[in-house]
Amino acid sequence: MKLTRRGVIQAAAALGVAQTLGCATTPKAGPGPEAENPKGKPLSILILGGTRFLGPALVERAKERGHTLTLFNRGKTNPGLFPDVEKLQGDRDPNKGEGLKALQGRKWDVVIDTSGYFPRLVKASAELLAPNVGQYVFISSISVYKELTKANLDESAPVATIDAAAPEEITEQSYGAFKALCEQAAEAALPGRALNIRPGYIVGPDDGSDRFTYWPLRVARGGEVLAPGDGEDPVQFIDARDLAAFIIRNVERRTMGVFNVTGPTKPIKMRTFLESVREVTGGDARFTWVETPFLEQQKPTPIPEIPIWAARTGAEGGLGRVSIERALQAGLTIRPLADTVRDTLAWFHTLPPERQDKQRAGIPADRERELLAAWHQAKGTGTAKAAE
Ligand SMILES: NC(=O)c1ccc[n+]([C@@H]2O[C@H](COP(=O)([O-])OP(=O)(O)OC[C@H]3O[C@@H](n4cnc5c(N)ncnc54)[C@H](OP(=O)(O)O)[C@@H]3O)[C@@H](O)[C@H]2O)c1
Repeated sequence: MKLTRRGVIQAAAALGVAQTLGCATTPKAGPGPEAENPKGKPLSILILGGTRFLGPALVERAKERGHTLTLFNRGKTNPGLFPDVEKLQGDRDPNKGEGLKALQGRKWDVVIDTSGYFPRLVKASAELLAPNVGQYVFISSISVYKELTKANLDESAPVATIDAAAPEEITEQSYGAFKALCEQAAEAALPGRALNIRPGYIVGPDDGSDRFTYWPLRVARGGEVLAPGDGEDPVQFIDARDLAAFIIRNVERRTMGVFNVTGPTKPIKMRTFLESVREVTGGDARFTWVETPFLEQQKPTPIPEIPIWAARTGAEGGLGRVSIERALQAGLTIRPLADTVRDTLAWFHTLPPERQDKQRAGIPADRERELLAAWHQAKGTGTAKAAE
């Protein structure tokens, strides 16, 4: 399956990429709200999930801010994580096992739902918890938008639609539309008390998808690097630790509503992104910019999987430039890209060697060589050197 950008934004989490969190780095505080937002009353926070990628970043941030936590999950993903945190076992699906029973009769200030993909399940937890929580935070996605070709999509842009009774399967078509219905289910169960967060690519240490990680690893390896497009395509992503800091900050402020949450704070293009990565990794990487139409003609897969990037003229050209104005107004801060690159590489190198050898995203080395050779032939540039 060729993964479109909409598809890859959901793929790691929704398709259940397993991760090794045993070697998780200790998240650092973001450039943070502490000065402007001194610690208030500690909150009791329930996370529906909490143990794969964004969840742990939220736990770390909430702990730093003095809040108390409860995690609700099936006990399958990284069960040894956070031995000091209360854990309740069950299933998001009320029809499976004990379902949501463990949540009955308990009260929390806030619930953060990182694991909702289907409206039936979000409705079930939101309705059950509505009398017993002050706020429901639902982690949605920027994939909710209907017209992904458009630049500057803001929170008022139309969302994709799907029949609520459609089969509960995550596909490239269904993911965003289901997420939109999940947002609506949260808002319907807790009118005026829902905070719907629409992140772009979530990246950084503990990201088991390797989509962002591909670039620091590839650039660090050096030599001629296939760089997609003309260097002018915008890219957006957010370090999970910055996303967690934004969420916890707005939980503390009791912010409600809908927010696109991605970075960086100032737009960045693919060329600047790759050059910034090289500044961190050092080495002799040389970028050969391979035009989008050439990539589109490739067979058997038009545009081999090139993570994070999307052509601004393509079907999902809006996804690298959604509006984050609202989030910035609500205190979104983004750490320097160099920190994310450095920390991601450091984390990746702590993984077992066999895992490091099996990268989960990016262009395999032999395919990249083939594509570069074909590109040079088409352009008559002959050698990699000539393309620098
Ligand atoms: N990755 C991206 O680039 C990206 C971009 C945009 C939006 N998002 C969204 O961000 C969220 C982040 O996901 P995450 O995986 O990092 O969150 P997480 O909270 O770190 O991990 C997912 C948690 O859900 C639990 N879980 C899964 N199925 C469950 C079930 N049926 N019942 C109870 N618990 C269940 C898992 O534990 P058990 O397996 O032990 O149950 C795990 O603790 C997702 O909603 C995703 O759609 C991701």
